[in-house]
Amino acid sequence: MSSAFITGTRETIGVIGTGYVGLVTAAGFAELGNEVWCIDIDAEKVARLRRGEIPIYEPGLKELVERHRDRLHFSTDIADALAHARLLFVAVGTPPTYSGDADLSAVHAVVDALPDSDRHALVMKSTVPVGTGASIARVFAERGKTGLRYVSCPEFLREGSALSDFFAPDRVVVGDDGGWPGDAVAELYAPLRAPLVRTDIASAEMVKLASNAFLATKISFINEIANVCEQTGADVEEVARGMGLDSRIGRSFLQAGIGYGGSCFPKDVSALKQLAGNSGYHFQLLNAVIEVNELQKRRVIGKLRERLGDLAGRNVALLGLAFKPDTDDMREASSLVLAARLQADGANVRAYDPIAADQARKLLPGLEVCGSALEAMEGADAVVLVTEWPEFRRLDWRAVAARMRGTAVIDGRNALDPAAVATAGLTYAGIGRRPVAPAAMPPVPPVPGTSLSALAG
Ligand code: UGA
Repeated sequence: MSSAFITGTRETIGVIGTGYVGLVTAAGFAELGNEVWCIDIDAEKVARLRRGEIPIYEPGLKELVERHRDRLHFSTDIADALAHARLLFVAVGTPPTYSGDADLSAVHAVVDALPDSDRHALVMKSTVPVGTGASIARVFAERGKTGLRYVSCPEFLREGSALSDFFAPDRVVVGDDGGWPGDAVAELYAPLRAPLVRTDIASAEMVKLASNAFLATKISFINEIANVCEQTGADVEEVARGMGLDSRIGRSFLQAGIGYGGSCFPKDVSALKQLAGNSGYHFQLLNAVIEVNELQKRRVIGKLRERLGDLAGRNVALLGLAFKPDTDDMREASSLVLAARLQADGANVRAYDPIAADQARKLLPGLEVCGSALEAMEGADAVVLVTEWPEFRRLDWRAVAARMRGTAVIDGRNALDPAAVATAGLTYAGIGRRPVAPAAMPPVPPVPGTSLSALAG
C-alpha cells in the first residue's frame, strides 16, 4: 500500500456523496479509525456538515460525526479526496428515471471528474444496474484512463438502523476483477469480522438488487397471505409466527401491513424488472410484487368505507407518515398514497409524525399536520396507524376514545394491542387479523379512601 494513504494503521479513504449512505459509511469508517475525505457538489451541504449539522435524521449519526470531527473532512473538491485517498467510495443518488431504469448521471459525473491514475480505484456503494462496472471500465478505456480500477461493494444499510447495520453486517460483498483494490476494500472491513463474499463485479451488483427484490417479495407475499387470512378467518400474525420458525423461511420481513416504501425497495424492484426486460427477460414475479404493494397501500380505503360509508366530510387521523419508524424519510411512503386518496374522496385528513412533519408539509400541502397524536385524533371518525412509531404502541386508548367522534381504529402495521383498543370502546381492525369489536367498558375503580363528595370538596 502506498504509505501516502495511511494514517496510523488505517487507510485514509474518500467518500463521494454525503447523502444517507455516504455519511453513514464515512462516520462508520471514522469510528474504525480511518481518516475520511467526504466530497459533495452541494456547497451549502458541505458548509453545514463542517459546522456539525447533519442534514438527515438517523439515530446516532450526529453523535458519531461529532465524535470524529478530527477524522472527517468535508470538501466540494474531488481533488482533496484524490490527494489523500486511493479508494474513493461512490455514494451518490441513482433515482429511477421515467422508464424505471436507474438514473446514473451522478455516477457518470464522478467518473468524468477523475483523471487517469494507477493509484486510485472507485468503490461503488450506490445501487446500480448489473453491468454498470463493465460499462464504467469501458468508459475508462475509451478516455485513456486505463490506470483507474473499479470495485463493487454494495451497501445493505437500513434507514433507522444504519449504524448498527454498518458495524454488524450480515455480510460484506466485494466484487472486483483482481489486483489491489478488492483486497484493500476487504481489509477495510476486516475489523467487523463479517462473512466476506469475494466475487466478480457483475455478481456483486446482482447480490444487491436480488437481495432487495427478494425482501420486497417476502413482504408482498405475507401481505397477500394477510388478505387471504381476512377472507378465511386466520390471523396473519399467527401464520407468520408459525412460518417464521422454519429456518428456511425465517421470521424477518414477514410483517404484514400497508405496503413497503422508502428510497430503496420500490426503486430497486423496478430497476431489476427493467434490467431483466432490457436484457430480454420478462421478470413476471416482480410485476406481481409491485402490483400487490400498490394495491396494499389502498386497502385501508376499503376498510374505512366499510366502517364509515362515504368518506366525504369524514375526519380521518393518520398516525405516522414516514415510510417506517426512526426516519423522517417519506419517499414512496404509504402515507402519501393514503392521504392523497382520502383527500380525493373528500375526507378531512389530519396527521401526526414525531419526526417527518416538515417533510410532510412540503409533500402534502393539503394535509393538516398536528403537533401530537392526540391533537390529530381530536374529533376523528377513524384513526389509521400508518407508521409503527413506538409512542403509538403506548397510547392511552381511553384518552383517545374520549377525543374521537367515531370509533374506528385501523392498524395498518399490526402494531397495536387489539384488546387495549377494544377495551377503550373502540373497534379494532388490523391487516390480516380478525376485527375486534369494542369490549364492554369495565367501570372505573374508585380511588381508595375517597368519595365523590370528598373529591368535590
Ligand atoms: C432496505 C433494505 O432492508 C436494506 O438492506 C438496503 O440496504 C436498503 O433498503 C437499501 O437498498 O439502501 P430500508 O429501505 O431502509 O432498507 O428499510 P426496510 O427496513 O428494509 O423497510 C422497507 C419497507 O418495507 C418499509 O416501508 C417497511 O415498513 C416495509 N416492511 C419491512 C414491511 O412492510 N414488512 C416487513 O416485514 C419489513
